[in-house]
Amino acid sequence: MSSRSHLFSPLTVGAVPTPNRIWMAPLTRSRAGQPGDVPTELNARYYAQRASAGLIVSEATQISREGQGYAWTPGIYTDAQEAGWRRVVEAVHHAGGRIALQLWHVGRVSHPLLQEGGQPPVGASPIRAEKTECFVVLPDGTPAQVPVEAPRELSQPEIRRIVGEYAAAALRARRAGFDLVEIHGANGYLLNQFLDLRANQRRDEYGGSLPNRARFLLEVVDAAAEAVGRERIGVRLSPNGVFSDMSVEGSLETSLYVAAELDRRKIAYLHIAEPDWAGGSPLTEEERGALRRAFSAVLTFCGNYTAARAEAAIAAGVADAIAFGKLFLANPDLPERFRRQAPLNAPDPSTFYGGGEKGYTDYPSLDAVGREAQRGANIRK
Ligand SMILES: Cc1cc2nc3c(=O)[nH]c(=O)nc-3n(C[C@H](O)[C@H](O)[C@H](O)COP(=O)(O)O)c2cc1C
Repeated sequence: MSSRSHLFSPLTVGAVPTPNRIWMAPLTRSRAGQPGDVPTELNARYYAQRASAGLIVSEATQISREGQGYAWTPGIYTDAQEAGWRRVVEAVHHAGGRIALQLWHVGRVSHPLLQEGGQPPVGASPIRAEKTECFVVLPDGTPAQVPVEAPRELSQPEIRRIVGEYAAAALRARRAGFDLVEIHGANGYLLNQFLDLRANQRRDEYGGSLPNRARFLLEVVDAAAEAVGRERIGVRLSPNGVFSDMSVEGSLETSLYVAAELDRRKIAYLHIAEPDWAGGSPLTEEERGALRRAFSAVLTFCGNYTAARAEAAIAAGVADAIAFGKLFLANPDLPERFRRQAPLNAPDPSTFYGGGEKGYTDYPSLDAVGREAQRGANIRK
């Protein structure tokens, strides 16, 4: 067996057989078609280039206008968006891949400029996220990073409405052909705000105790599972993450509670975004082990992994798969590069968000590099 044998062993993710354990992490790229935040042919090409991933998890995709916190991110709440995503999924399937749609509501990480009628954003409690910015287009047409505004507190009927919007988005995703949906419970967005001891100061049954703080997320999971089947559902959590002003206090305990509840619900997978990419301290081996014991289906970790670390985590039985963010962004054929232990392209942060093909669909694959080298050799002959 080669030193990469675990990474290249097949894995069944709920209803979906996958050929390897190298996942593409969800990556916001802010290149949806305008107006309407509709996925385009360019987006389809980008994802199809990365179809050799065991599973692609799409960029975070808002389930409603209210759920948007950044300009130019795609949605999954209009017919045009569903049709745009269908073209993306068809391109990925045609290239032999599998893809999950990450369902997103940003909650308080937004701004009136992104909201219907200039309303404030919504959240668990009326507490503004400190040192947190969102991305808007100003009234004069200039794009700008601006501090988020204070949210207003969601009422219980509104929470029920949003649960329904998640289920409707999951259904649209399946209609568009997605193999799975991933509920974004990480990185300081709405469901994470409800889990968080500081952002959630509610006194009703959605705040206070652990079961109360987890209630909204679990209601979303149950509604989505009823819509598309539990074997099509994944959840992303970020224990100890501090992104968008989340508190570390009680965070791991909360994630372990949620992991155990998700285990009982027999969903397809749990995806752990490790904190260190966004300023938090890395998870310890004990913390990863505790998550492993709490969740028995497919468990995936993400954050600063290399092929060697990923192989070791799977070999040790801690992880079933590993997701790669920046490496997959810059290397469309990442599994093949891992297999051949080939050099990796470096990601260019200046083109992460917004723009066109540059820094998006123009990272070369090994084959393209090989053809270039061959052409160079022919010219020199
Ligand atoms: C440009 C960029 C966009 C990201 N967008 C998302 C996103 O839409 N949803 C999400 O859950 N995480 C998002 N993340 C976090 C990544 O999924 C991943 O957790 C992080 O990059 C760490 O993994 P890496 O070290 O392999 O890049 C993003 C990260 C980057 C760099």
